Formats: sequence, C-alpha cells, structure tokens
Amino acid sequence: MCGIVGYVGERQALPIVLSGLKRLEYRGYDSAGVAAFDQSNGTVHLKIKRAEGRLDNLLKVLKEDPIKGTSSIGHTRWATHGRPSEKNAHPHRYKDVVIVHNGIIENYISLREELVKHGHTFLSETDTEIVAHLLQRAIDQEKDFEKACQKVVNKLKGAFALAVLWAKAPNKLFVAKQHCPMVLGLGKDEQFIASDIPALLDYTKDFIFLEDGEMAFVEPTKVVVKKFDGEIVRRKSHRVDWSLAAAEKEGFDHFMLKEIYEQPRVLRDTFRGRIQSKFDGVQFETFKMSDAEAKKLKSLFLLGCGTAWHASLVGKYWIESFAKLHVDVDLASEFRYRDPVVFKNSLAVAISQSGETADTLAAISEAMKLKLKPLAITNAVESSIARKTKSVIYTHAGPEISVASTKCFMAQLGVLALFSVYLASKRGTQNKKWVSKILTDLAEVPEKISEVLKLNDHIRNIAKKYKDYRQYFYLGRGLSFPMALEGALKLKEIAYINTQAYPAGEMKHGPIALISEDWPIVCVAPQDKIYGKAISNFEEVKARGGKLISIGTEGDTELRNRSDEWIGLPKIREEFSPFLTAVALQLFSYHMSVLNGCDVDKPKNLAKSVTVE
Ligand code: AGP
Repeated sequence: MCGIVGYVGERQALPIVLSGLKRLEYRGYDSAGVAAFDQSNGTVHLKIKRAEGRLDNLLKVLKEDPIKGTSSIGHTRWATHGRPSEKNAHPHRYKDVVIVHNGIIENYISLREELVKHGHTFLSETDTEIVAHLLQRAIDQEKDFEKACQKVVNKLKGAFALAVLWAKAPNKLFVAKQHCPMVLGLGKDEQFIASDIPALLDYTKDFIFLEDGEMAFVEPTKVVVKKFDGEIVRRKSHRVDWSLAAAEKEGFDHFMLKEIYEQPRVLRDTFRGRIQSKFDGVQFETFKMSDAEAKKLKSLFLLGCGTAWHASLVGKYWIESFAKLHVDVDLASEFRYRDPVVFKNSLAVAISQSGETADTLAAISEAMKLKLKPLAITNAVESSIARKTKSVIYTHAGPEISVASTKCFMAQLGVLALFSVYLASKRGTQNKKWVSKILTDLAEVPEKISEVLKLNDHIRNIAKKYKDYRQYFYLGRGLSFPMALEGALKLKEIAYINTQAYPAGEMKHGPIALISEDWPIVCVAPQDKIYGKAISNFEEVKARGGKLISIGTEGDTELRNRSDEWIGLPKIREEFSPFLTAVALQLFSYHMSVLNGCDVDKPKNLAKSVTVE
C-alpha cells in the first residue's frame, strides 16, 4: 500500500519526510516523490521531485537539484490507477495545490468528466490528480481553504487518505481520512503526519489517530480535527511505546497474522467501485466485454500455481454454475507441456499475486500463441504478466509481505466472484433479481470474515492440543475441496507438517488405508448441498480411529457431535463459504507454525515470487 509522510515546523522538512518514507519501504512501492515549500528568500516557492522505482532514485534526483523548506509532503506509491511512472508518482499539483493520496477514489471517472467539461486537462492517469483540480476550483469559488477542503472531501467516494499543501498557507497541512490509515504525530512547535506509525517513531511517540470521516488542519503549533461536516472533534493523543519492528507489524507478532486480519478491508477494497451502487451489476475499470462477446464465449482456462491454482478451482465452480461457461483449470507449470484442445472465442485467465511467476507467465504466453484471448488477475500493476496480457483485473490487496499468501488469495477469490457474476449478467444466464441478491450477499462477506477472526483464540487452543502431530488429512467436497487443498498447503508451507488433501469421497478409494490415531483429519464441511455426503465420508474415517477437527456452520450440532474439535463459522450464502473457511484454515496453520517454532513469515526453501521454472 502507498505511504504518506508530512511535516510542518521549523526544521528542514525534507530529511524528516525522506527518513519516514524509508521506514515504510518494507511495505513495497513502485515510485516515490516529495514536495516542499522553500520560503528561504522571503518568497514562497514550491518544488516537486518524483522518481520511478526505489527511494534511492528519488535521492539521486534530489542530489542534483536539492529542495529546501520547512513544510513538506512525501509519498511512496503502489500503483492502482495508472502504471508506475514518474508522471503518475505523487505528489500531484494543480496551480497552488499539491497533494498526495492513498486509496482509491471510487467516483473519479465522473468527477474527472465534470472537470473536463470545465476545460481541465490532466498530466497523469491517476485518480489523485483530479482531487488537486477539484480543490483548486473549490478554493477559487469559496475563497477559503478550509471550507474548500471540506467541500471536496464530501464529494469523494471510496477510500482515501489525503495530505495537501497549499501555496497561500505553506505552514498549514490538510489531511483527511476515509477507510485508509492516517495518523498525526505531535511535536513541540512542529507536527508530523503519516499513513503509518513506523514512519514517525524516530520523531515522536505521541499520536492522534484520525477516524474515518475526519480531517485535520495541522500547523506547527496547532492541530484542529474536524468531521467532514465541519464539527470540531476533541481527540486525546496516545503515547505509542511500540518498537519499530512491532510498529511495522501494527502490533501483530507476524506479518502473516496482520495480513490475515487485513482481509475484511482487502475484500472491501477489491469490491469498491466494482459492485455497482444499487447492486445491479459489476464493472471493472480496466476490463470490459460486450454482452455479445460474453455470449459468444465458448470456454475459459484459469491458469495459476499453488494458492492461485486453488483460487482458480473455486473460480471454476462459480463461473460454471453462475455463467454456464465451461472452465478448464490448469496448473500453469503443466499447461504449456500438454496439448490442450482450444475453442475459438475462448479466454485464458492467468492468476498470480506477484504477476511474476515464471510458470504462469509461460502458460499465458502459450495460451496467447494458441489464440486464446488473455486476461490477468494480479495484485501487481505493470508486473510481467500484466504487461504480457495487456488486459488486467487488479486485486487490491496491497503488498503482501509474508511469503505464505493469505490476503492475496482472499482478493483473488473476491475478483473471481465478481468476474463470475459479471459473466453471468453479460451472458444473460441469470436474471436481475439473482444478480442483485448475490451482489448483496457478496458485499456482506467482509463483515462475516470479521466474525471468523473473533475465533482466533479458540483456534489457537485447538492448535495447542494438536501441535505435535506430524501428519494431517484435509478433506472437503465441492467448494470445500479446493479449500482443503489450500489449508493443507498452508500447513506444509509454514509449519513443515506433512499433509494430504482429498475430496472426502475419494478416501474410500485408497487413502483410507492410512487412517489411524496419528493422522488428525481437518474436515471442511460448511452446510451446503453436498454436506450430507461429506458427513458420511467423515463417519467412515472416524470409524477407523481418525480424530476429526471440523470447520462447519455454527449451530450444526450434527457435525459438531461427531467431531473431536469444532470450529463453527457464521452462516453465509453457501457458494461463498470459501471466504470464511479460508480464514479458519489460515489461522490454524499460523498457530501451528508459531507453536512449532517455525519462521512464519519466511519459511525455509520458499520465495515470495517464483521467477524460475
Ligand atoms: C502461497 O502461499 C505460495 N507461497 C505459493 O503457492 C504461490 O501461491 C505460488 O507460487 C503462486 O504465486 P503467484 O500468485 O505470485 O503467481
């Protein structure tokens, strides 16, 4: 996710802002920039410097042409709108207004159109630049900076953290927060702002945390917090005694746990602007297909590796069931070495969080050679796979630091769910009432995930009892089979425990020979249409001495009574159970890894992006 740092006071601002941005480097970014007002010779002079790539590139630019000034804002960008480039890097400026922004302005297209009607032209492809234009227009109309800021934040929809400097009041910073983090760091005759605490820990331990729908006007000796409606907020400051390492993980012990807990937000970001406001359809900013094209589609290939392959297996179920379109799911590492039969008017979709996986890149290249239309679902803007396909739907998970994928998997499921509803409505396989109902149900998923997260202590207690077992079976049927595969992969990856995942109905065809008291069985069995069958399969393994750790639906006494351990998840539309079972499985693997003394975030032998075949 992008990083914001700002300063107003008496010191030279640039070293402070740059060191703050450096502290946020661990989160990943693709370009960086700073702006400062130089008031040294009695006039106010604004300078902006930006560079693509690492902060070191920005430092080189600043070395050649240094900036001075006692007020400054800086930014590290993780591209969401517009590719990573100097032109799209922040800060953005329009006349006297200079701005940095984190998040996604959902209504930026309509706001941009409105500005174009008034003769505005833009230098970047970002949603951020339009906010600078809106603000300058509002200042011209209102003749009052604070009123103009208030007017503009109320026009914006979506998620944003903004930091703004204005040439006419260079010692005043404006910040606003809506669904993206923003903190104010307090000093003596100087103030700091940042998207994240680690950026400021070298300078202050006293923070004011803005809430959603709040903005602040920050001057060296004064901080005024207001709601977006203008009402003044009296907010106490908090002393933060975290070490830097703890602050980077926002107080969580590991990045993996932090990322598991981020999942409700990740899904909301992934749905934002894509589920139309009245739940009457789905749209993607970067991908369009006409109804006629969608109806002509003959088949679709989903290509991915590891966790992305598991997401694809869930995607197959949704697309076939909702959009009545044939789907092949291929392990990317195998696809190019077989001779697939392809039909005219078919799509190939590469799924990859990193966008750099060599096998997936090779598979989509092969698909393109076979004249399949390519599409990428990835978390990394302008990654190799995105550049290859030129047609992309981005997941909005933000940078994932833990090697084991959790929130990116969740975002992949989110995009696949949207994509399957998109295809269903374009192909006319479902009626409007169905579309509206399923999108309403989908929008409720993040809240349900928050409920699952409340089971963390309970899941840790189960892990404590089972931490010494060296082999596990993971069983599920239907949509829960890919989740069994994903749960089993997570336990292998981060706890180094042998796991076997099977569709529960397959056990009797061989693997049941292995059942004994030494192999606990994780049963993934939410109440869905195949649940009854799954229970019978679990009975078969229980009868042979297996211990059952069941992940089911709360209130299900039938499975609960048969199980040795029970994790009851909230009720949810049955097709969406993977969103919830994934979280319970992630937490179980996480605690097993911690309890076994493993390096959770950096498991041995694994890399975050696998760029070799
Ligand atoms: C996930 O926990 C794994 N580390 C791994 O299976 C991963 O999903 C796979 O390598 C694919 O990576 P990608 O999504 O970056 O293409």
